[in-house]
Amino acid sequence: MIKMENIAKSYDGNTMVIRDIGLEIKKGEFFVLLGPSGCGKSTLLRMIAGLEEITAGDLWIDGRHANELLPKERNLSMVFQNYALFPHMTVRDNILFGLDARKVAKKEQDERLNKVAEIMGLAEYLKRKPAQLSGGQRQRVALARSICSQTPICLMDEPLSNLDAKLRGQMRGEIRRIQRMLGLTIVYVTHDQVEAMTMGDRIMVLNEGCVQQIGEPLTVYNDPENLQVATFIGMPQMNIFRARAEQEGLRLNGSLILRRCGGQPCPAPAEECIVGIRAEHFRRGNESTGYVLEAKAAMVEYTGDETQISFENGQGYSVVKWPGQIPAEAGEALTLGVDAEHLYFFDKDTGHRIRQDGGRSQ
Ligand SMILES: Nc1ncnc2c1ncn2[C@@H]1O[C@H](COP(=O)(O)OP(=O)(O)OP(=O)(O)O)[C@@H](O)[C@H]1O
Ligand SMILES: [Mg+2]
Repeated sequence: MIKMENIAKSYDGNTMVIRDIGLEIKKGEFFVLLGPSGCGKSTLLRMIAGLEEITAGDLWIDGRHANELLPKERNLSMVFQNYALFPHMTVRDNILFGLDARKVAKKEQDERLNKVAEIMGLAEYLKRKPAQLSGGQRQRVALARSICSQTPICLMDEPLSNLDAKLRGQMRGEIRRIQRMLGLTIVYVTHDQVEAMTMGDRIMVLNEGCVQQIGEPLTVYNDPENLQVATFIGMPQMNIFRARAEQEGLRLNGSLILRRCGGQPCPAPAEECIVGIRAEHFRRGNESTGYVLEAKAAMVEYTGDETQISFENGQGYSVVKWPGQIPAEAGEALTLGVDAEHLYFFDKDTGHRIRQDGGRSQ
């Protein structure tokens, strides 16, 4: 449906902001572009939309070579990061914009409008002008327009960024539901990993214009290709340590020691590497089949449904996360177990994942 080959972009003919991107987005897929601010997400989306010239590489939309197609020839709709609404038009007219030109019957337009206004909570604002709306309401008008257009491809650039947490949660579900119902192909830009995880069929993680990994949400979470992906996805961030193989086990940050249970040798992939451990993978006590770490609690935080305990790691703090309200106090000794399968090893120079079976990714 959307295919890219060796796509690159430079605004000034000098620095590349998008480098050598190849991907295929399937019909009906919810595809998320995820990455930190400035990594090139909007640029990539705008190239698909035809609003930004493609410096190198090839773009196909529905089998047609699309590099030179005008935006209107691409049969797609776009929700911009800064929701471009027409200020002189009412909410209603903004939402229905473009449908007359596409010769959609008035009755059909009204049906679409009523349905989408209901879902988006905009029914009572249809007669207002954009200036009379809050930022979040404007954003929903922009989304409503895209959905009403029923073009087979919707490009969305951070469409929920101006909504409060509760509304965001609701809208995540609504967009996903509408997408399924209408069989839309959505390319969705966000820097919010929760949105990416909960909405996407697949996620592409971008950093500095380069693809880091493309995969289903849980694959990207469970099996990150490199340090950048591992630390970008997951809350709290994956704990990272510099590790050195020693007789007793792995020395972390020159300070803590991760001991192999049962006195077995420690199968570190290199004398020095980086080890990552997710907060939820630490177990209480030494009941693990792999490793054990002795540490001292520095701070205990309760969110109500879970407990987070941080401990000093020689270079800052690491954190463990457990469900429930675990009694603990700052200063007390912690014995933490980690199963061998929950240690992530990375090359200390490149950040590439080193697989424990000996294979090196990438
Ligand atoms: N019109 C432009 N001219 C020159 N450089 C640009 C232009 N637009 C974007 N850039 C640069 O290209 C890079 C990628 O920008 P882009 O807007 O695609 O990032 P983004 O991932 O969407 O970030 P954010 O999450 O902050 O929206 C940035 O370094 C940015 O400064
Ligand atoms: Mg952007």
